[in-house]
Amino acid sequence: TGPISCTINVCAFGAPLTVGKIMALLPIVTLPDPSLRKISQPVDQIDAEIHRLLDDMLETMYAAPGIGLAAIQVAVPKRIVVIDIGKTEEERSPLFLINPEITWASEELSLYQEGCLSVPDYYEDVKRPATVQVRHLNREGQLVEFKAEGLLATVVQHELDHLEGGLFIDHLSRLKRDRVMKKFNKAARIDEIITQRRREIEHQSEEAGV
Ligand code: NI
Repeated sequence: TGPISCTINVCAFGAPLTVGKIMALLPIVTLPDPSLRKISQPVDQIDAEIHRLLDDMLETMYAAPGIGLAAIQVAVPKRIVVIDIGKTEEERSPLFLINPEITWASEELSLYQEGCLSVPDYYEDVKRPATVQVRHLNREGQLVEFKAEGLLATVVQHELDHLEGGLFIDHLSRLKRDRVMKKFNKAARIDEIITQRRREIEHQSEEAGV
């Protein structure tokens, strides 16, 4: 899946977003792009630019569709995550996590089949702590803490992995991970060949004057 082209559209979601605000869909970085392995930097000031990024990330995540997105997935190496596990538009309740940290994790584990917008069309079971305590700054810059359980606990951990350059495939066996990497490397090479061939054809038609 190639990057989504940047489009501007008017957002009509309810609170906490302002209706009619102009937001943008951001292109999502996918494997094998090495920038997914970067460590994201803490946010030192929550200003209008960060608010804009949070809104654009949320819009991009809903459009994908996905239930979690880290800033590095839209090529911004900042410690920012948006999450919404609501299944329908009515159930939406977005979480904005800035500089998030896991302060406690249960010994009890749970298993979910995970996927990732940066690893398109690939799903695999991953075991993680069933409950985690998360401390973060919210949109307003207040330090808040909450306990995440079930699917939310998994999504929080998956997204926080992204901030360290991690991907859910790192939790799989080496064999499985190598197989996934091979698949994405091959797809990228084929993409490159197609682009190159298209360029050659365009060049030839220009020379032929057609
Ligand atoms: Ni992901």
